Amino acid sequence: MTLNICVLASGRGSNFLAIIDSIKKGECDAKISCLITDNSNAKAIEIARLNKIQAHILLRKDHSSSEDFDLVMLRILENYSVDLIVLAGYMRIIRSTELLRKYKIINIHPSLLPKYPGAHAQKDAFLAGEKVSGLTIHLVDKTLDGGPIIFQQEVDISDCKSAGEVSSKILEFEHKAYPLVINKLSLGEIKLDEY
Ligand code: GRF
Repeated sequence: MTLNICVLASGRGSNFLAIIDSIKKGECDAKISCLITDNSNAKAIEIARLNKIQAHILLRKDHSSSEDFDLVMLRILENYSVDLIVLAGYMRIIRSTELLRKYKIINIHPSLLPKYPGAHAQKDAFLAGEKVSGLTIHLVDKTLDGGPIIFQQEVDISDCKSAGEVSSKILEFEHKAYPLVINKLSLGEIKLDEY
């Protein structure tokens, strides 16, 4: 079943673009019906525009509370019959019970969770002297990078001389893994109900 996706991104959007490209190549059976971003400067907005994907800019500062922010997001999502929400560099923790109850939400994280959660995973792995790190795709719950793991891939980082090199190396693998996992979800080869 072609999955109808909403992508949430706060920044550069390279994973967002990788998913778009994979769909275009026929390698990922999904349709991205909208982007929601919490950052008006996100490069992801330009990527959406170039690919004729509706972009919604939802700024926390325009809403009196997180609850209100979440309600507006729910209202946006109601317009799209979304099967799956894909977090691609989305920097807010989703705390809304209603959002988490109504939607399947997945995230990609640049470490082998539960090691190195948080915003500096690649740097943390590098500074810890890890020879191997990797990426994790997991279901989202209220915890930070703590939901059930659906896919992991190791990446050899022993040749990396800086945290930046670790980030770039893992990112290349992310760009292949995220569309692959979305396609497996679409084919029913991975079933989120089982997690
Ligand atoms: C990626 O490293 C992803 O794993 C993490 O945030 C980064 C987003 O990069 N959650 P991009 O915006 O997709 O380029």
